[in-house]
Amino acid sequence: MWNTPFVYLSAVLIVLAAYYRWSRRKMLACVANMNGPPALPLIGHGYILLKYTSAEVIFENMDKLSSTYPSPLCIHFGPLVHVVVYTPEELQIVFNSPHCLDKSIQYHFLHVSKGIFASPTHIWKGQRKLLNVSFGPANLNSFVSIFNEKSALFTELMQKHVGKGERNFNHEIALCMLDTIYSTAFGVNFDMQRTPDGEYYLGLQEEFLDLITKRIFSITMYPEFIYRMTKAYKRETKILQEARLLSTKVMDARKADSITASSRDTQSDSGLNGKKPQIFLDKLLELAKENDQFLKEDIPEHLDTIIFAGNDTTATTMSNILLMLAIHPDIQERVYQEVMEACPEENQFVSIEDVAKLSYTEMVCKEAMRLYPVGAAIGRVATSDIKLDDRNTIPANAVIVCGIYQVHMDPKQWGPNTDKFNPDRFLPENVARRHPYAFLPFSGGPRNCLGIRYAWLSMKIMIVHLLRKYRLTTSLTMDDVVIKFTVLLKVANGCQIALEKR
Ligand code: HEM
Repeated sequence: MWNTPFVYLSAVLIVLAAYYRWSRRKMLACVANMNGPPALPLIGHGYILLKYTSAEVIFENMDKLSSTYPSPLCIHFGPLVHVVVYTPEELQIVFNSPHCLDKSIQYHFLHVSKGIFASPTHIWKGQRKLLNVSFGPANLNSFVSIFNEKSALFTELMQKHVGKGERNFNHEIALCMLDTIYSTAFGVNFDMQRTPDGEYYLGLQEEFLDLITKRIFSITMYPEFIYRMTKAYKRETKILQEARLLSTKVMDARKADSITASSRDTQSDSGLNGKKPQIFLDKLLELAKENDQFLKEDIPEHLDTIIFAGNDTTATTMSNILLMLAIHPDIQERVYQEVMEACPEENQFVSIEDVAKLSYTEMVCKEAMRLYPVGAAIGRVATSDIKLDDRNTIPANAVIVCGIYQVHMDPKQWGPNTDKFNPDRFLPENVARRHPYAFLPFSGGPRNCLGIRYAWLSMKIMIVHLLRKYRLTTSLTMDDVVIKFTVLLKVANGCQIALEKR
């Protein structure tokens, strides 16, 4: 009995496990006193998070954990140590530390590791410096014509739904954003709102995010060699190939190098008062000529990254804002009045100057982003020990989860009734009283969202076009709204509204 191979194997495994635990002793000691429920051997807290049931239950479980335990919370997901932080003070430390700039392991599942969204810090630094110019005010102001054109088309297409009762408009909103982002990325009018390409892309995106969410919550699917044996991996590879086909199609057709003014002319940029759009593809090609950080063959991946980072985030936020306007008719009326003061004619071009006048509208959008931040949980890795306070240090190599949803719902920052929709929270005097890291819809620190200005301009222009023509209504109340987590935080009900002609 004692000589059987089984005994040898068991002994080897025990020694290896003991060595593994010993090699992590410093890390485990560091988190030993952090808050959290009891962990089981091997699977840690996997018993709470392991089973992916539905996107709604996942969100509920995460929310329950963070409302039961004060920050920082330690979650052992199999062998991975996660420290979840959700006080503004801790978030400020993490977001501004040069040792917390790397994205966590889960970002690799997205397969955009060359692009700026998930690239390792040493590559990201150069990319960010160069791309900042493309996302700077001068460049983005040149997109105003595209934002207007696409929002005007969206508003026109909505006409057929007037008086037809309530339905979920998530898809139409996402198509408009996709149409916009493809135009600003490629300088080609794909006409995504009226052709099957848009529907097709959105279907792929939805399926892809579902697969990734399932993988994030299944620790057994983390090792690449195991995941590659699954059906999910095969489907994911196919989805990525098909999505990439859309961008490479354009790249090939236009022979990348020879992008000239004539190709940009396919983008309608006249008649709407705008400047000529400085599209991302041209900018990336310029960068590829002069900088090693941008190889020409990687440009499709960079463009996919920008589309991935910008499309679903803006579309989901826009859906949430419109739903909030429909649930709160009095607030919608104030936004409408502001819109009509800034830019009253039905089909009038919305300029940068008009957008700057929409201060109440901005407060309303911010309150929608507080309640439903699409980037609700941001993952980083500690590349060195990070001291949070005298009691708590995040050990090197731990995954850090930044709890944006939790800090947005913190009564210490926002007072009682944090689940109430109240745009006055963003009156300047109220903002001044809060910690600057209490509101982080675009993340914080040097690796925050690169597309903030793009998002604001495109969303405000869309609101003006839509509200000038239609009143939004819904039978939903705030109590009916259910949240789910599919990489992004989303409202499970969708943008369930009806349109009335003004
Ligand atoms: C309302 C709309 C948007 C929201 C709420 C939003 C939010 C965010 C958040 C939370 C992050 C950090 C993600 C993380 O670390 O996991 C991020 C990063 C990023 N966003 Fe946005 N985003 C929006 C729109 C856009 C748009 C329109 C673009 C581009 C056209 C864009 C481009 C990016 C890029 C490139 C990054 C990565 C930045 C880096 O790592 O340096 N975003 N965004």
